[in-house]
Amino acid sequence: MGTDTLDRRDALLRLLADGGLHSGAELAAALGVSRAAVWKALHRAADDLGLELTAVRRKGYRLARPLELLDADSMTSALSAPARQRLAGLEVLFSVDSTNTRLMQAAAAGAASGRVCLAERQLAGRGRGGRDWVSPFGENIYLSMLWRYPGGPAGLGGLSLACGVAVAEVLRQAGVADIALKWPNDLHWRRRKLGGLLLEVAGESHGPSHVVVGLGLNRRLGEQQAAAIDQPWVDLAAVLGDALPGRNRLAAGLIEALSAALAAYGDGGLAPVLPAWRAFDAYQGEPVALLMGGQRITGTCAGIADDGALLLKTADGLRAFHAGEVSLRPLAGGWVRA
Ligand code: BTN
Repeated sequence: MGTDTLDRRDALLRLLADGGLHSGAELAAALGVSRAAVWKALHRAADDLGLELTAVRRKGYRLARPLELLDADSMTSALSAPARQRLAGLEVLFSVDSTNTRLMQAAAAGAASGRVCLAERQLAGRGRGGRDWVSPFGENIYLSMLWRYPGGPAGLGGLSLACGVAVAEVLRQAGVADIALKWPNDLHWRRRKLGGLLLEVAGESHGPSHVVVGLGLNRRLGEQQAAAIDQPWVDLAAVLGDALPGRNRLAAGLIEALSAALAAYGDGGLAPVLPAWRAFDAYQGEPVALLMGGQRITGTCAGIADDGALLLKTADGLRAFHAGEVSLRPLAGGWVRA
């Protein structure tokens, strides 16, 4: 699709975002194109982005539900002065392969620490363990932040836990009372996945290094869109109902908290965050299986060690793990990921 077509689609969606009825003539005049071009662009956008668009005979078009598109100015103005100082540019994209990939590339090209990228949708969103991250348009949060550290990657082992705590605190403040963390940093609500973090680290072994922290948060996800998710999931709309926060306010809170956590980790490491992580620990005392490079180790969750490792009480005694995928809940015939 050419840039003109994309600009037109973007402009049309911004006009329709209020959820009100807009006539073809009004839209055509606003864009300086024919009504036929409006019709074509709208239908294409609805198909491509999975939007529910209603055409009301002789009156115009409206979206089934208003959209709150992401807006860099609105997010920036909701940030505290220190948070604004921590940032080095906030980019909002309509569509991208992956906000993490984009920032890893920007980092390699010299982008400054504190750069943030958000997108309305991802075409190749990535989750942990090589899985896809379902990333439909216009409702969820796909946010990545680049941070640089003087030391090597080995010192960043606890960072993913610190970031999980930062996000869990924002969600609790937004009213998600039962927010919990599944090691290392999955965001869970009543055993269902609400979001997750993907940290990608690069650098010299003795430093400097950089990390891109990518957060995916299900704010509103349709059943159909979520069909590809292979574990129990939930979205914020289901948890919070009418109290669902707007996307820009939510994203600003997340940027504020994540940038503070990334900066604080550089000063104090994981230690100051350990009590908070332990308080959010969803599976302490639960029977689990840890999948690690083709191996499956069973045991009981015994919390986390001071370096952030997962502690499992196994038949061979207490063991610490720095990597792997925790699976819970034995079912007749096997285990399911949770
Ligand atoms: C997980 O598997 O739990 C981690 C999911 C991380 C998804 C986010 S969405 C923004 C950023 N861009 C990506 O491609 N992935 C992360």
